[in-house]
Amino acid sequence: MAARTVTVAFVGVEARRVDVQVQIAGGLTGIVVVGLADKAVSESRERVRAAFASMGLAVPGDRIIVNLAPADLPKDGAHYDLPIALALLAEMGVMPKDAVENAVVFGELGLDATLAVTPGVLPAAMAAHGMGLPIICPEACGPEAAWAGGEAIPAPNLIALVNHFRGGQLLAPPAPGEIAAPPPVADLRDVKGQEQAKRALEIAAAGGHNLLLVGPPGAGKSMLAQRLAGVLPPLTAEELLEVSMIQSVAGLLQRGRLTRARPFRAPHHSASMAALVGGGIKARPGEVSLAHRGVLFLDELPEFNPATLDALRQPLETGEVVIARANHHVTYPARVQLVAAMNPCRCGGGAGMCRRWPRCAAEYQGRLSGPLLDRIDLQLDVPPVTAADLALPPPVEGTAEVAARVAVARAAQADRVESGDGLNAAVDQKTLEHIAAPDAAGQELLSKAATALALSARGYHRTLRVARTVADLDGSTAVRRVHIAEALSFRRVRPGYDSAATSGGKATVS
Ligand SMILES: Nc1ncnc2c1ncn2[C@@H]1O[C@H](COP(=O)(O)OP(=O)(O)OP(=O)(O)O)[C@@H](O)[C@H]1O
Ligand SMILES: [Mg+2]
Ligand SMILES: [Zn+2]
Repeated sequence: MAARTVTVAFVGVEARRVDVQVQIAGGLTGIVVVGLADKAVSESRERVRAAFASMGLAVPGDRIIVNLAPADLPKDGAHYDLPIALALLAEMGVMPKDAVENAVVFGELGLDATLAVTPGVLPAAMAAHGMGLPIICPEACGPEAAWAGGEAIPAPNLIALVNHFRGGQLLAPPAPGEIAAPPPVADLRDVKGQEQAKRALEIAAAGGHNLLLVGPPGAGKSMLAQRLAGVLPPLTAEELLEVSMIQSVAGLLQRGRLTRARPFRAPHHSASMAALVGGGIKARPGEVSLAHRGVLFLDELPEFNPATLDALRQPLETGEVVIARANHHVTYPARVQLVAAMNPCRCGGGAGMCRRWPRCAAEYQGRLSGPLLDRIDLQLDVPPVTAADLALPPPVEGTAEVAARVAVARAAQADRVESGDGLNAAVDQKTLEHIAAPDAAGQELLSKAATALALSARGYHRTLRVARTVADLDGSTAVRRVHIAEALSFRRVRPGYDSAATSGGKATVS
């Protein structure tokens, strides 16, 4: 008779049930793990052996077969140590078999039989709760496991677990980690002048639009981008869970502390494809998933590897990342708001300062593909800050005032569309045409602009999306001419591609 227990395997952030069977059989000596286990799982054998030795227990000198089922589900990670160890202890008669039979067991063993912090406890505990089973996990992960709402048995080491199940020393259930206070964010009030850029930030936050800021060094682009997270509403309960699951799998939830602040991730342009999009040797969520439901800030956009930027197109379109593994696919959520900043040309000067203008700008901005730019609803030039701007007193409006308007506009969007948060940036095209149909004067302006500016179909719809958000900020159910006009002002023309830009001007429509 084999001893059995349950654990989970991760498919993205989803934890699926895995049945663990351990049997001591006659024959050659050694531990054999079967069931599509990767290297980290195979290494469990050595850690279990060392942990047993530290407890003064010898692994039986017979053949030990560890079967992980279902066999076709790939198993990856170090959390299989504890289920294998506990099932083996039960099979050896050190603890009762029924103690571990009906529990989800999850955790990495140290060589001294202590239980180490193991990533992914939150989804594992959620899955256990769904199966109606308690979860046995490392003590350090207890506060995280407790968030799932089911029974949790956290233990500092293997000996404590043996004692617990033999009825000696009972382990206390954990309390959930705290909801951490949001980290202090920089206030929008610090930014002087730059009224159009601040307005763009407000529209971006209100409608969930991607934003590109183009301007010379020192114009305040990074400053503005870093202030976006502050004007976004806190995560809803459902979003908090989604975000925390990703952070858990990435090993970023410390002592089970969750935070309602929207993620803000700013990977450096030298970041690898695996770091940005996910994957690599161990399947792990990338920056684009860690920014899920929050902001992905790409500073100096053209400096990123073009192949990496290309890989971002799919998540920007679909809200998830699909990573191909050797024999399967892994999906991670990645619904992000992209904010990108860049200088107009490589030397940074821009029109008037650059000796190679506009060639220099055309080359630099040409590094960005059309399909990527097509996914950025709001694109604008940020002029240099003048000395007069810097001498101004601080603006009356700051992050709190803008955040309040953003919250109202977001509520209007959520009310209008049945499913999800209904953000204007993300509604499907059919819904968009329905909810953003301009009034007669608005339509007239849009049609004129479409011809004059040779708007592509994508450009046309982007304008509609932004106009819908402008109208929401205005508290207007109808999309009117003024809303269309403002939306059209956030359309930059790339230097070297259009005569309007060689003079440094912006396309205007009357
Ligand atoms: N509008 C502004 N109001 C107040 N301070 C500003 C403003 N713009 C820039 N600054 C000051 O200049 C510094 C540089 O700004 P920031 O880093 O945001 O510029 P940038 O546009 O990102 O430049 P770069 O292209 O070099 O990255 C800020 O730390 C701030 O002190
Ligand atoms: Mg900067
Ligand atoms: Zn230049």
